[in-house]
Amino acid sequence: MAIKLKINGQEQPVDAAPGTPLLWVLRDHLKMTGTKFGCGVAQCGACTVHIDGTPTRSCVLPHDSLEGAEITTIEGIEGRAAEAIREVWIEDNVPQCGYCQSGQIMAATALIAENANPSDAEIDAAMTNLCRCATYMSIRRAIKKAASKV
Ligand code: FES
Ligand code: FES
Repeated sequence: MAIKLKINGQEQPVDAAPGTPLLWVLRDHLKMTGTKFGCGVAQCGACTVHIDGTPTRSCVLPHDSLEGAEITTIEGIEGRAAEAIREVWIEDNVPQCGYCQSGQIMAATALIAENANPSDAEIDAAMTNLCRCATYMSIRRAIKKAASKV
């Protein structure tokens, strides 16, 4: 039975098997492929979206638990924190292969929207996403630079 999900501010009818993770609803049903599959077991963060503003791993999140929630993906993220992250990510060439970066950007945006001057420890605590290209130090520098612009 179809349910309605609110994704990037728009109601979307979704007809997927009960329990289907949000990641696969986004990618396979709605063709929103900016959110990536990495591990599938809530470890790597490649699939991070915002649920009511909180970074959340969508690969283990049943879509049918989300009626009434505000779901934001990399395609719909907006606001000053997101703009600052986008600007700095480009200026400072943060991505390497890029595969993990939509998840990194979702986590980083939520962090600086809440905390305009994050310490190294706060960045490390918030940024648990994995990067096989080891862009961790670039990400930390970029978060500090972006936070100073918000
Ligand atoms: S794919 Fe979801 S955390 Fe790795
Ligand atoms: S930039 Fe390649 S996995 Fe992170």
